[in-house]
This record gives sequence, structure tokens and C-alpha cells, in this order.
Amino acid sequence: MAGSRALLTALFVLAIAFYPRSVDANFAKSMSFNWGADHSSMTNNGNDLQLVLDTTSGSGIQSKKQFLFGSIEMLIKLVPGNSAGTVTAYYMSSTGSGHDEIDFEFLGNVSGQPYIIHTNIYCQGNGSREQQFYPWFDPTADFHNYTIHWNPTEVVWYVDSMPIRVFRNYQSEGIPYPSQQAMRVYSSLWNADNWATRGGLDKIDWNNAPFIARYSHFRARACKWQGPISFSQCTAQTPGNWWMSPVYSKLSYAKQGQMNWVRNNYMIYDYCKDTKRFNGQMPPECYKPQF
Ligand SMILES: *[C@@H]1O[C@H](CO)[C@@H](O)[C@H](O)[C@H]1NC(C)=O
Ligand SMILES: *[C@@H]1O[C@H](CO)[C@@H](O)[C@H](O)[C@H]1NC(C)=O
Ligand SMILES: *[C@@H]1O[C@H](CO)[C@@H](O)[C@H](O)[C@H]1NC(C)=O
Repeated sequence: MAGSRALLTALFVLAIAFYPRSVDANFAKSMSFNWGADHSSMTNNGNDLQLVLDTTSGSGIQSKKQFLFGSIEMLIKLVPGNSAGTVTAYYMSSTGSGHDEIDFEFLGNVSGQPYIIHTNIYCQGNGSREQQFYPWFDPTADFHNYTIHWNPTEVVWYVDSMPIRVFRNYQSEGIPYPSQQAMRVYSSLWNADNWATRGGLDKIDWNNAPFIARYSHFRARACKWQGPISFSQCTAQTPGNWWMSPVYSKLSYAKQGQMNWVRNNYMIYDYCKDTKRFNGQMPPECYKPQF
């Protein structure tokens, strides 16, 4: 008896020792539904998630915690088949007026036509910094890794570890950057057929409902916001805050090469090239080295 109790105790201690690593890898523990919970689900002990859009509603989740800097990772398999008019959004956002936000949005398409990977960043309530890409793979055939790496020097959007976009901090030159407000992680699947696919020409075909986006492996390796005291904790260069370390202040040459490849071959819209929209008076960061 005593022996088995000792064994149980040992197992319990082991379980505790390994427990913290998995905390942020789980939808059930780290996120909750904020929309459409009744027709969406978390399965596989909360490690997998599916968001559903049907004629009754879309659905969405948000992280329980807020974060200031970190690396936010999600594996997503987008709505297959005719997904025209649907948008799967995956983003971080602070709350209140003058909010900061970092976006991935996946704009669906009719069968066989490409999704658009839409990115944007809001600083103190102001967005208008869209860049769009075609994926170089079929994002509905399998899970792909979409990661937002956010620290005080830059925001990097990664797709399967390939950087597709960098937004650098030029705050010292008066250019806004999200560095003061903690953000939650959100994802949602919704009807945006007034604009999403070919500018709204292709509508949702409800005969294909329900539309389902699948998720796994959510990891928020990020600094948890626990009130104003967190500010110095989250901006400190500590080993725990590995996403702040100097290697993450600038892309390596290899990563720059990957990003150039994506941008040269798959970028379809860049606000910094849209001279008509800005009347030739481009946003100031467009004149800066982008990475
Ligand atoms: C996802 O991509 C990020 C950024 O490159 C990387 O740190 C992470 O290890 C990747 N995760 C998986 C499961 O491949
Ligand atoms: C959908 O396919 C059309 C035709 O290939 C393309 O012009 C468009 O960029 C694609 N994506 C979206 C989201 O409209
Ligand atoms: C919002 O951001 C855009 C893009 O950087 C810029 O052109 C515009 O002037 C900004 N608007 C305000 C009100 O700050």
C-alpha cells in the first residue's frame, strides 16, 4: 500500500512538473467562446477547436488572458470547397478607444480559386495598413502555422515559419507602434460577403453551410498582463521573455530572403504602393526600411 501511494505521489509530482508547459497549448484552458458557442466545439481535451458559420450565426473565441509582447501560434485549416464570402479572422487586439490590433484575415473564395491572406495593423485606433498575399499552398488541405511575433522592435507575421510581413518600431521618429497596450488573442468565422471575395461580387452559397474552420495547437508564449506592474516585467530583457532577445530584433538574412521570395511572388496588395489612395502622401513608415 505504502509503495503504491509513494508511486502515486511521484506521478503527481511529475504531472505538476510538466503541467505548466501545456497550459497555453490548449483552447479549453486559455480561450472561451464569445460568439456562437452552441454550434462550435472544442475537442480532444480542448486541444482542437472548430468554428462554424451557418445561417444562424458565425462563431468566435477570445483568450482569457491579455498579453504584452510574445509569440502567438495557431495551426489552422481553413474552410474548404466553396468558401466565398466567408472570412476567418485571427488577430490580437487591445480594448477601448485608440486600440492596437495585429491582424491575419483569411478571405474565402469559390472552389478552386485562391484565398487571400489579408494582414493589417492598427496603432492607437488607426489601421489602413493592409497588405495581402495569395498563399503558396492550399490552406484548406491541411493545417498551417500562422504566428504573430510581437516585441518592442518589430511585429512579424509568419506563415509556416516564413516571414511574410514586418512592421518595425519607428516610434522615436513619431511613427505609431503598438507598444503600450496589452492585447487578447481572438479568432472568428463570419459572413463578410459584402466585401470579402472579389470585392463582394461572390456571395456566400448557403447550400454549402455549415462552413467549418479547424484549429489545433494554440500556443501563447507571451508575457501575461497582470496590471500596470506587468509593464516593466513584459518589457524586460529576461531569458523568460525570449521573444524580446536581440535575435528577434531583426530578421536574419535567411529569413529576409524568404520574405523577399513571398513578397516578390505572392503579394497582391501593399498600402505603401497605393499612391492613389493616399494621394501621393504616403504613410511615413512607407519611406523607412521595412526590415
Ligand atoms: C510556428 O511558427 C513559429 C514561427 O516561426 C515557430 O516558432 C513555431 O515553432 C512553429 N510551430 C509549429 C508547431 O511548427
Ligand atoms: C478569388 O479568385 C479570384 C479569381 O481568381 C481572384 O481574383 C481573387 O483575388 C480571389 N480571392 C478573393 C478573396 O477574392
Ligand atoms: C492613419 O494611418 C494611415 C496609415 O499610416 C495614415 O496615412 C493616416 O494619416 C493616419 N490617420 C490618422 C488620423 O492618424
